[in-house]
Parts: sequence; structure tokens; C-alpha cells
Amino acid sequence: MLDLKEKTINEEWQGEALERENPNSNGRKVYIESYGCQMNFSDSEIVASILEKEGYQTTRLMEEAEIVFVNTCSIREKAEQTVRKRLEGFHKVKRKKPEMIIGVLGCMAERMKTKLLEEEKLVDIVVGPDAYRDLPELVKEVDGGRKAVNVILSKEETYGDISPVRLGGNGVTAFVSITRGCDNMCTFCVVPFTRGRERSRNPESIVNEVRDLSEKGYKEVTLLGQNVDSYLWYGGGPKKDFDKLTKEEQDSSVNFAQLMEMVAQVDPKVRIRFSTSHPKDMTDEVLHVMAKYDNICKYIHLPFQSGNSRILEMMNRGYTREWYLNRMEAIRRIIPDCAVSADVITGFCSETEEEHQDTLSLMEEVKYHFSYMFKYSERPNTLAQRKYEDDIPEEVKGRRLNEIIAMQQKHSLERMKADVGKTLEVLVEGVSKKSDQELFGRTTHNSVAVFPRKDYKIGDYVMVKIHDCTSATLIGTAV
Ligand code: 5AD
Ligand code: SF4
Repeated sequence: MLDLKEKTINEEWQGEALERENPNSNGRKVYIESYGCQMNFSDSEIVASILEKEGYQTTRLMEEAEIVFVNTCSIREKAEQTVRKRLEGFHKVKRKKPEMIIGVLGCMAERMKTKLLEEEKLVDIVVGPDAYRDLPELVKEVDGGRKAVNVILSKEETYGDISPVRLGGNGVTAFVSITRGCDNMCTFCVVPFTRGRERSRNPESIVNEVRDLSEKGYKEVTLLGQNVDSYLWYGGGPKKDFDKLTKEEQDSSVNFAQLMEMVAQVDPKVRIRFSTSHPKDMTDEVLHVMAKYDNICKYIHLPFQSGNSRILEMMNRGYTREWYLNRMEAIRRIIPDCAVSADVITGFCSETEEEHQDTLSLMEEVKYHFSYMFKYSERPNTLAQRKYEDDIPEEVKGRRLNEIIAMQQKHSLERMKADVGKTLEVLVEGVSKKSDQELFGRTTHNSVAVFPRKDYKIGDYVMVKIHDCTSATLIGTAV
């Protein structure tokens, strides 16, 4: 099993199973496995919470579970293939154990609707991201011998009132969702179709959740949304622009900068992170709030996707290369010591060699601390699939990706080397995988640091003097 907390933001996490004792257990055990983005892991905790109330007990052992749920990802074809193999594996187990219920949750459930159930007969339950409250009822239907589906998307559902059970975590860092869905319609992206319309969660419920985490000893909270910068609470319901609100709604509204300030004030010993930011929506107001609070980590994940304005236009990203670089300039001006990471897609429809060079030159200009780098993967029914041809040959995509990766590795190493000799505050998240004599944690910049354990514990803030590094890890000693 993978250690969730040693993985970084947005990576395709795989196969984390969740487990927690339920004092009101009815004896039925459920195994939940999650794939994809942090939002999915956060959703699995909501699912576990809904099921716990009904008496279900989560387990890490698939063999002892009566119900197996797979929370799925559709972002790239590869993600879906991984899940599909897993579902086929579970299906084999079910042949020997026919009473076992298999359910598919999340984005693939939404995208494929009844296909996995009717045509391929792989699963018994199909539940989309907005229908988790219905899970207990759906399980009852399956108990009664039927198949069950709910893939209705909602304009209101935020699960705001459900306090997720924190499973499989380290007791130190936690995710808190603040928005659901996405209205941006980037042409390559399946998310607007699988997660529906964007909506923001009540700020009071967010602050309460963060306070509760702080009281339970958590030291870091990551606010999650597809586009956190467009968070806007005006009383609930689908996303609206500020100028479309009534005067009354405007007066009582809460935007992302204001929300972050509210959250930062809960407990100065609780660090705040957030993901994902969108260049078209990231305001100076947000940057000023980041600069003002020591406990807001100086780290922004700001996907650029491409360094070329024509490709950005085709992607419907809503900004140009110049706009993006202007946002970078604002970050450097307002928060001089801020780490920035990115997502980038190579080989998007019709991308030329010069346009690929624009991506490399933008990277050279920014020197990201870290990047998540992807080959374009055409997704069924997205705008790009309908409008453009996926015409960049696989080997060209592969070569361009390698060039991007090589450049990023060089920049990551440069960024890490710049920290050698410094003494940095590290929040300890766990024992290092390589040696149980070492602990690992993260700096404000989200860089992983390892150092000899001594008497330090998970959850401690430790000042670590950095004396060496690789492109992925800082190596130091506590001082
Ligand atoms: N192909 C490749 N990468 C994609 N992403 C989203 N959709 C696709 C796709 N069809 C990437 C984007 C996004 C990240 C979460 O995944 O870079 O920011
Ligand atoms: Fe997809 Fe774009 Fe929304 Fe991100 S902002 S989830 S890439 S549509």
C-alpha cells in the first residue's frame, strides 16, 4: 500500500484503502479504494462518514469486506485503464464470493453511467460524485437483488454538513473541500462533465471543520477545489460572478481571499495550503492575504498547461502567456519567497515544435519548484474531442514530454540547492521510508525534508538545517 502523505499534490494516487473502528458497527464491512486527485480522497472520507452513520465498518482488507467501493478517476485514459483492471480483479473475486457487492464511485461512474453495469456486468452499484448521500439506499436495493445507479449531478450539493471521517491519514495533515465541480470548460478536460457545475461550500462549515481538526491535533489543512480562486459564497447554489449578485448578496458574500483569512485565523499553529489555483482568477487580494499570515504556506500550484497563447486559446484557458507571466510577476512582487508548481500538457491538438518551445521557454522563465507533466490524452465527449483532431503522434508527444521532464528536473534541483545552508521550519508528517531512524516533513514551500529522528515526533514543527539535497528531497539535521 502506498503512503498517501508521502505523495504530492495532484499525482495519480492509487489504491489507498481506508479503515477506522466504528463503535456502532452493524458488522458489515466496507473496503474503499481511491484513485486520482485529492478531491477523490477527500470524497472517500465523506463516503466513509455516510456509511459509518449506517453502521458500516471500514476495513483495509478487501478479503473481509462485504462491499467494495472503488472511487475512480477519468482525467486521462491511463487512469481509467488502471481502474478498469482493478475492477476486473474484484470481479474475479466475486465469482468465488457472489454475495460481495462491488460499486464504482466518482468520475468514471459519472462518465460511463450504466455501461460498467449493464454492458460489462463488472459492478453492482454506480454512483456519481454528487449522489453519495444515497449510498445506504442504493446498497439496500442491491441487497434486495437489484442493481443500483445514481449519477444525478447537483447544483447545490457540497456535503457541507458532513464531517468526513479522517481515514488512512497521519493525524497531522488533512484535506477540506471548499468548492465542488468546475465551470471552466477547458476543452481537454472531462471534469466539468463528471463533477458538474461549480458550487461553493458554506464558509461557516469550512471554518468549523478546520477548528475541529485543530482541536484534534491536526497541524495542516489543504483547502481543495478545482479552481479555489473562484470560490464565492453568496448563500448557496450554483456559481455566480460577483457582479451578478444582488446588493444584499454582495454585502454578505465571502470570496476566496476572505475565506482564507477566516481559516488562517482559526489557529496560528495550523498551516494552510490550497489547491488548485487558476491563473485567470488568482487575484492580488489572495496574494496579499498569503503574505499577511505566517501560517499560510508560501506555495502556489498554478497550472499553465501551455506556454503558447494560441494553444491556450484552443484549450479555452481564459488567459494568454503574457497574462500568466503577469500573474507570476505579481506573486514575486507580493510574496518574494514563494514556491510555485505547475501542471503542463504536451502534444495538445495541432501543437507545433515552436509552440512546444514556448512551453519550454515559459518554464525557463519561471523555474518551477515542481511540475506535473502530462501527454495530452483525448477524453470522450470533451470539447477538444469534438472540435479538434488528436493529431500529434505518440512518439512526438513522448519526446516533447521527455524534454519538459528534463528541464523540470534541472529546475527542481536548482530550487532545492538554493535551500542548502538554510535553516527551515519543517512540519513532521512521518517516518522516512528509507530509514526508521529518519523523519520526513515539508517546508512551507512544500519541499520534502528528511532528518535524523532523535526525540522528535510526527506533528512537531522542527527547525532543520539543510546540508544537502536531491532534486526531490532536502537533507538536514534538526537544530
Ligand atoms: N490529457 C492530459 N492531461 C490532462 N489534464 C486534464 N485533462 C487532461 C487530458 N485530457 C491535466 C491538466 C490538469 C491536471 C489535473 O491534469 O494539466 O491541470
Ligand atoms: Fe478541468 Fe480546467 Fe476545470 Fe481544471 S479548471 S478541472 S483543467 S476544466
